Order: sequence, then structure tokens, then C-alpha cells
Amino acid sequence: MTELKPVTEATAQKVSKPVMTPDAQTVTEVRHYTDRLFSFRVTRPQSLRFRSGEFVMIGLMGENGRPLLRAYSIASPSWDDELEFYSIKVPDGPLTSKLQHIQVGDQIILRPKPVGTLVHDALEPGRRLYFFSTGTGFAPFASLLRDPQTYEDYDEVIITHTCREVAELTYGAELIDSIRNDELLVELIGEDNLSKLKYYPTTTREESPKMGRITTLIENGELFSDLGVPPLDPENDRAMVCGSLAFNHDIKALLEKAGLEEGANSDPKQFVIEKAFVGDGI
Ligand SMILES: Cc1cc2nc3c(=O)[nH]c(=O)nc-3n(C[C@H](O)[C@H](O)[C@H](O)COP(=O)(O)OP(=O)(O)OC[C@H]3O[C@@H](n4cnc5c(N)ncnc54)[C@H](O)[C@@H]3O)c2cc1C
Ligand SMILES: NC(=O)c1ccc[n+]([C@@H]2O[C@H](COP(=O)([O-])OP(=O)(O)OC[C@H]3O[C@@H](n4cnc5c(N)ncnc54)[C@H](OP(=O)(O)O)[C@@H]3O)[C@@H](O)[C@H]2O)c1
Repeated sequence: MTELKPVTEATAQKVSKPVMTPDAQTVTEVRHYTDRLFSFRVTRPQSLRFRSGEFVMIGLMGENGRPLLRAYSIASPSWDDELEFYSIKVPDGPLTSKLQHIQVGDQIILRPKPVGTLVHDALEPGRRLYFFSTGTGFAPFASLLRDPQTYEDYDEVIITHTCREVAELTYGAELIDSIRNDELLVELIGEDNLSKLKYYPTTTREESPKMGRITTLIENGELFSDLGVPPLDPENDRAMVCGSLAFNHDIKALLEKAGLEEGANSDPKQFVIEKAFVGDGI
């Protein structure tokens, strides 16, 4: 099994000249996890207010002198002084082929207009909150999992994260570990609330303690028996979903089969969905 350990060596080359735009933010930390995944933190504009779970447009100045921007979930919670992002590295991707080389002190562009449906306001009150994620779809939940409101509003908080390989779980595994052990986070969330959190990582192509697509584990009931919770029901359960289009489509069908209805900011219901990316092939 691959060890859960971040790749910390600087593989990056210097890429960005200072960005001459009012929306420039400075990179304060970069961590590489695999050849396809990294996270980074940037300064936060003082005026930026957002709800945990929302996304913004970020990017770099393109060679044509125009900003090259992409949607990114803010992975840090709304109370954090900085902003954190968790990113794919697409080898030929217009943005991430360059963004993957950022280093501390470089600048990125950040448009301060947060939006999105993975927010508490888009769900009716419930007893148990599920976060279902694959790949970088973990990012919005890295924000919501560090927001005290998540634990104040629910008796149980269940985060599932499915990736092909074990190393792709590292960012999420380290985040859960920090929620349980970091003094500041424990104090913010409240020690009594920590028992509400259940983490359910699975892999599909490399051996790990729990294998399988989460859709299969819902259908065969293993998710519920493993966690000791009842099957999905619209009375008690609420869900937020973030993954590929195919994943979102399949989870949506299962949630609707269990009687849950999709909500929105303007019409809160029992579950909400957001794409982790557009397109279906690298
Ligand atoms: C609402 C929303 C939120 C997003 N949040 C994030 C985020 O938090 N982190 C993040 O890494 N990306 C996120 N994305 C995807 C992001 O906007 C870009 O697509 C990604 O950064 C790649 O940019 P690119 O220009 O290099 O390649 P693009 O031309 O944008 O993408 C090329 C191809 O790469 C694949 N791809 C793109 N993004 C991903 C991904 N995240 N995981 C797996 N395959 C992918 C797709 O097949 C896509 O067709 C989000 C997208 C949306 C719509
Ligand atoms: N991850 C890699 O190592 C890797 C390497 C090179 C290129 N790529 C390319 O990058 C793109 C994105 O890859 P990714 O691994 O980040 O995301 P992904 O293909 O969406 O897979 C992420 C996880 O979600 C699972 N999954 C996918 N579709 C699902 C569905 N409909 N229902 C339930 N579970 C589902 C996958 O299981 P399955 O394994 O069963 O599909 C996998 O465990 C793909 O086009 C891929 O070809 C990936």
C-alpha cells in the first residue's frame, strides 16, 4: 500500500512574474501530494467574505496578457485569515500545467466573488449531514469540515472520500487528523463535537482498508453497517455532493431513490450538488 505522506520536495520552477492587477494575492504555502495533486494557500483580501463551501475564480496571467481563470472551491473555512485551495495538475491543462509550479511569494489572480450551492443555507435542518466526494471534490468539504456551524447544526457529520489510489487520499486524511488533533481546530470546533465526525475513505484501484465506489457501498448497505447508521431517509439525512459529472449523476439517483430532494440557495431541500470539474477526460 502507498504510504500516506505528502511530497514536500520543491519540484516547482519559478513561473509567475508579479501580477499587475488589483486582484493579485500572494502565495504563502505550497504542498505537493502526488504527481496529480497539490494544495496551496494565499493571502486573503480583507474585503472578501464567503460562506464555507463556496467557490471563486482564480488563475494566472496568460501569455496573451489576459487573465486565465478557472473555478476553484475555497478549501479553507470562512474564519481563516488566508485562503486554501486543493488542486489537480492536468499535464496539458491551460491553467494547472503552470499553476502546479507556483512557489511561496508568487502571485495569483483571485476574483473576490464567491458563489456556490454547497452551503448550509441550501439545506433544510436535519439530524445527519453527509459529504460525498471523489478526487478534488473533497475541497469544499475541507472548508465545511473546519466550520463550527457544521457541528452545531447536526448530530452526525459523515465525510466520504473515494479516489483511485491511496496517495490521493492524503490531503483529506491529513485534514481529518488536524481537525481531531490540532489544538486551535479542536478548540474552535469544540471537543464534544468531534465525536460527531465520521471519516469514510475508500479506494477503487489500489488496495486499502476499505475498497469500492461509494455508490456501490450505498447500494449494498456496507456504508451504513460500517458506520452504524440507518439507511438514508429524507426525514433525518441531508447531503452535499462534489465529484465528476458521472459521480454526481449516480449519487443523485441514489439520493432521490431514498426520497431526498435536491435543493438550492433559493429553495433549501435535502441535498445539494456541485461539479468538481467540467469534462470527462484528461
Ligand atoms: C464549480 C467548480 C469548482 C471547481 N473546484 C476545483 C477545485 O477546488 N480544485 C480543482 O483542482 N479543480 C476545481 N475545478 C476544476 C477547475 O476549474 C479546472 O478545470 C482545473 O483547475 C483544470 O484547469 P486547466 O485549465 O488546467 O484544465 P481544464 O481545461 O479546465 O481541464 C482539462 C480537463 O482536465 C480534467 N479536470 C479538470 N479539473 C479536474 C479535477 N479537479 N479533477 C480531475 N480532473 C480534472 C477534465 O477532464 C477537463 O476536461 C472546479 C470546477 C468547477 C466547475
Ligand atoms: N487518478 C489517476 O491516477 C489518474 C491518472 C491519470 C489520468 N487520470 C484521468 O483524470 C481524470 C479524473 O480522474 P480522477 O481519478 O481524479 O477522477 P475520477 O475518474 O472521477 O475518479 C475518482 C474516484 O471516483 C470514482 N468514480 C468515478 N465515477 C464514479 C461514479 N459514476 N460513481 C461512483 N464512483 C465513481 C472512481 O472509481 P473508479 O476507479 O471505479 O472509476 C475513483 O475512485 C480521468 O479522466 C482520468 O482518466 C486519472
